[in-house]
Amino acid sequence: AVPTPAPTGPTPVVLDVDTGVDDACALLLAARHPALDLRAVTCVAGNAEVDQVVRNTLSVLDVAGRPDVPVARGATRPLLEPARPARHVHGEDGLGDLDDAVRPRSERRPDPRHAVELLRDVALAAAEAGEELTLVPLAPMTNVALALRTYPELARGLRRIVFMGGAARHGNATAAAEFNVWHDPEAAAVVLDAAGELGIPVTMYGLDVFYDVRVTRSTATDLIGRTDPVARLAGALIDFQCRRFAEDDATIGDAGAVCAVIDPDGLSTQRLPVRVELSGSWTRGQTVVDRRDWGGDQDHDAHGLAPALIDVALGVQAERYARLWL
Ligand code: RIB
Ligand code: CA
Repeated sequence: AVPTPAPTGPTPVVLDVDTGVDDACALLLAARHPALDLRAVTCVAGNAEVDQVVRNTLSVLDVAGRPDVPVARGATRPLLEPARPARHVHGEDGLGDLDDAVRPRSERRPDPRHAVELLRDVALAAAEAGEELTLVPLAPMTNVALALRTYPELARGLRRIVFMGGAARHGNATAAAEFNVWHDPEAAAVVLDAAGELGIPVTMYGLDVFYDVRVTRSTATDLIGRTDPVARLAGALIDFQCRRFAEDDATIGDAGAVCAVIDPDGLSTQRLPVRVELSGSWTRGQTVVDRRDWGGDQDHDAHGLAPALIDVALGVQAERYARLWL
């Protein structure tokens, strides 16, 4: 196939979020970095319930000075599982329970379209304009699964999916499963299947790199002391995590996946077969990354090779991405 020409201008992106403290870090970067053209943000139940995610997302985009970016409300719960918010990680309001001075309530209304419709409209508009979006899911992939199955033609407007989720090694929500995939395993399985069928390349920014990109508490304190509201919010988000986990530094989390879109050379990936476990008692939601390096075993494997070959992040230049985010 003819390789798609390297983008000349900023890279058009759409983020799917469950804002969330680290989703907020990702939104600030995507909204403000000149190398990116943030076209839309879609919200899904995950860290918090979806209406809280919408409120949090609008607040963060207001602080970032981006009232132009449409925000749409999406799935209120996973395809099969009930919604299971992570208040123990992200606070009661999902955004670190920060005070209004740092995280003002937004007056803006969300886009009237459902997330699936906004995703379709933005992707098809890009295709019409001869562009290709990078879709960056940073949450349970309920919206993305529904969109790809409802409007497969939107693949025409997608260059790549770079998702935060999964892990080649171990989980966080459970011993085996990473939170986003654990929250909606069926959705993750559908996205990998649909992306393979529709020819959309996929990068998995999983836990193997997620916790490596860190910012210190003293840097957060410096940011909080600035006058720029974006710096103050960024600092408050890092500071909240340092306090919550009693650490001297904190991960930028989802923001690392946005760094991977801006600066892909900072990530080392391997194209590997990946399956999502849907029925294991202790492993449901695990991304089973096949790292076997001898074809012979794979040739005799009753399971056969997983159809989904995706670019799995196995290493990251953490300092490089932390500097990029800062
Ligand atoms: O496992 C980490 C993921 O779960 C991140 O996207 C974080 O925001 C939470 O949603
Ligand atoms: Ca998230």
